[in-house]
Amino acid sequence: MLSTHPIQKLSDFRRLRSFTSRSLFRGMTSKAVGCAYSMAGGRSDSTDQPFYHESILLDEVVHFLAPLNGRLFVDGTLGGGGHTEALLRAGATVKGIDRDAEARDYATERLARFGDRFEAVAGCFGEISRLAEVGNWGGLDGILLDLGVSSHQLDVGERGFSFRFDGPLDMRMGDEGPTAADLVNGWGEAELRQIFWDLGEEKSGRKIAAWIVQERAKAPFETTLQLADGIEKLIGRRGRTHPATKVFQALRIEVNDELGELRRFLEVAPDLLKIGGRLAIITFHSLEDRIVKQTFRDASKAEVDRPEWPSPRPNPNHVYRLLARKGVAPGGEEVSRNARSRSSRLRVVERIKTPTVS
Ligand SMILES: C[S@@+](CC[C@H](N)C(=O)[O-])C[C@H]1O[C@@H](n2cnc3c(N)ncnc32)[C@H](O)[C@@H]1O
Repeated sequence: MLSTHPIQKLSDFRRLRSFTSRSLFRGMTSKAVGCAYSMAGGRSDSTDQPFYHESILLDEVVHFLAPLNGRLFVDGTLGGGGHTEALLRAGATVKGIDRDAEARDYATERLARFGDRFEAVAGCFGEISRLAEVGNWGGLDGILLDLGVSSHQLDVGERGFSFRFDGPLDMRMGDEGPTAADLVNGWGEAELRQIFWDLGEEKSGRKIAAWIVQERAKAPFETTLQLADGIEKLIGRRGRTHPATKVFQALRIEVNDELGELRRFLEVAPDLLKIGGRLAIITFHSLEDRIVKQTFRDASKAEVDRPEWPSPRPNPNHVYRLLARKGVAPGGEEVSRNARSRSSRLRVVERIKTPTVS
């Protein structure tokens, strides 16, 4: 089974956003903008940056999704197309959704040999119902989500996701909506403090939010290192982890409305799957894993109980059977080969016939 793909150059790779032209969305949240795409849109110039992403838990995903000939799957997080390629190689047909034009362009070229068994689809997995309707996909045999950002997105400084490389403070996976700089320069101190705590669990969030407000009065934050180095000076190093890690995580989750996307997807996913169809989700941090774990658990209980009821009652939302009860973590060999797999967990459910509840 192919588990990695080589570092490659794409001649028509899109160049990234300008460093400077940033509008301030004072008081505006990323949710206000939503997920709007244009198939023809995206970045315009070329770049020499190679695309690289090593797919995580690849064999396990193929095992659970069972992508036999003629089966139809949606990969809601196409990225570099590694998981999709494994499904295609096994004979399935795959619609690969990504909000990032670079990922779609790369995967389209990489997977061209599979002809019309593969299609890259612009959009967000949170709007999968609309995409399924427009594409006339019908019942699905499986859906995969491999949450978060790709290694490519993280490692290209100009995308502004990483505190390791300098670049514009952007962090958008797609082209729409406010950037991280818009939030950092435009949000109130209390709002910043809140997301640093809620989405980053950053204990120094209060101090960092106050510092940001003080600093931006002198000059707006424009680059990743301006923010990361400043945080490091402010709170110092604690061990090996960069002190800006949690703030960057919080900003990224907020900018891309990652938890909202996940919730919207989970709400509609059962309706898109055939009976026997499977849903596999790879999570990377406790916030998203908690949402997936609880949703899967609640929807796979035959009965629900409440203290005020004399006895348990049939669960009207019983739509799944849990596979891999505790989730699947990568083995030691995968973790040592690919450090980014360390915190990942694969959770899988199977759509069941909804029991009739009287
Ligand atoms: C971890 S990577 C996927 C890697 C892929 N599984 C592979 O093997 O190459 C996640 C990808 O999902 C995309 N993505 C994240 N959230 C998304 C969303 N809500 N809708 C559509 N694409 C999303 C990102 O742009 C990124 O390209």
